[in-house]
Amino acid sequence: MRPIKKLLWVSDGHACSTESAQEFERFSWLGHFIAKEKPDTIVFGGDFWDNPSLNTHKGSTLLPSAGKEAPGAAAKHDILKDWNAGRDAMMKILGVFKADNERHRKAGHRERIYDPDAYYLEGNHEEFWTRARIKHPSIGSLVSNEAAIEFLNGVGIQWVPAREKLLLGGVAFQHIHPDGRGQPIVLNSLLPELLMSNVSGHTHGYGEREKIRADGKVQRAIVGGCWKSPERLGTKDRPGLLLMEDVFQGEFHHKFIPQHVVAREYRSITWGLAAA
Ligand SMILES: [Fe+2]
Ligand SMILES: [Fe+2]
Repeated sequence: MRPIKKLLWVSDGHACSTESAQEFERFSWLGHFIAKEKPDTIVFGGDFWDNPSLNTHKGSTLLPSAGKEAPGAAAKHDILKDWNAGRDAMMKILGVFKADNERHRKAGHRERIYDPDAYYLEGNHEEFWTRARIKHPSIGSLVSNEAAIEFLNGVGIQWVPAREKLLLGGVAFQHIHPDGRGQPIVLNSLLPELLMSNVSGHTHGYGEREKIRADGKVQRAIVGGCWKSPERLGTKDRPGLLLMEDVFQGEFHHKFIPQHVVAREYRSITWGLAAA
C-alpha cells in the first residue's frame, strides 16, 4: 500500500435554495482550489444538502419525529428545490475541473485529465430523505438517497452510507463517529474510543487531538470544519478545508485552510463567471 499523497476533506456545505448567488460562489472557489491543488483523493464529509424542508429543528412535520422549534420555518422551503440546491452545489464544484478535462480530452492531452478518487459520506441531513419515507413513502419518488447515489456515481463520486466508516490510509472518515447510542463521540474521546486516526464533520467547528503510540506513530482525531455560507455562520462554525498529505498507517501532515483565504485567492475569478 502506497501513501495517499494529497487528500482533501471538505464537509458540511449546507447548500440551500434560499441562498444568494453570491453565497453560492463558495462552491466555485472550492472547485478552483481543487483544480489547482489536484488532490488525488477527495472526501466530501456530508451535509452538502441542507434539506431545510425536512428538518424537524425547523418545524418540519414530514419526518417521524415532531418539529421542535421555529414552527413554520421548514414550510418556507420546497423538497425539490432543496434537492436541486445540493446537486447544483456539487456541479459547481466539479464543473471547474470537468470543463478543464473536456478541453484536455478534445486537445488529445489525456495525460492532463484530472480524475481523483472521490467519496461522499452520507450526513444526517441526507438521512432526512430515508427518515421522511418512513412516514410518507411517496416522498421516495421525489428525493431519496438512491437518487443521490445515482447522481454522484454519474459524476465519479462514491457514496458511503452514514453508518459506515470510510477507511483510507489508516484513517477513519465519517460524518459523525457515533457512540453506542448513535450520538457523536466528543473530540476528547475520539482517539480513546476509535483507537485510530480519524476525521469527522457535523459540528461545523474545528479541533484536533493527537496521541503518540508506543511504536512512535502519531495518531490524530480531527473535527474538520465546514463549508457553509460565509453569511450564515454560527459563533462556533469554522469554515475551511482540511488538506492532508502523505496519509499512511494513520499518520499524515496537514493544514486547515480557512474559507476566507480560499475566497481571497479565487473570488475574483469566480465573480467574473457569476456575472457572465
Ligand atoms: Fe452539518
Ligand atoms: Fe451533520
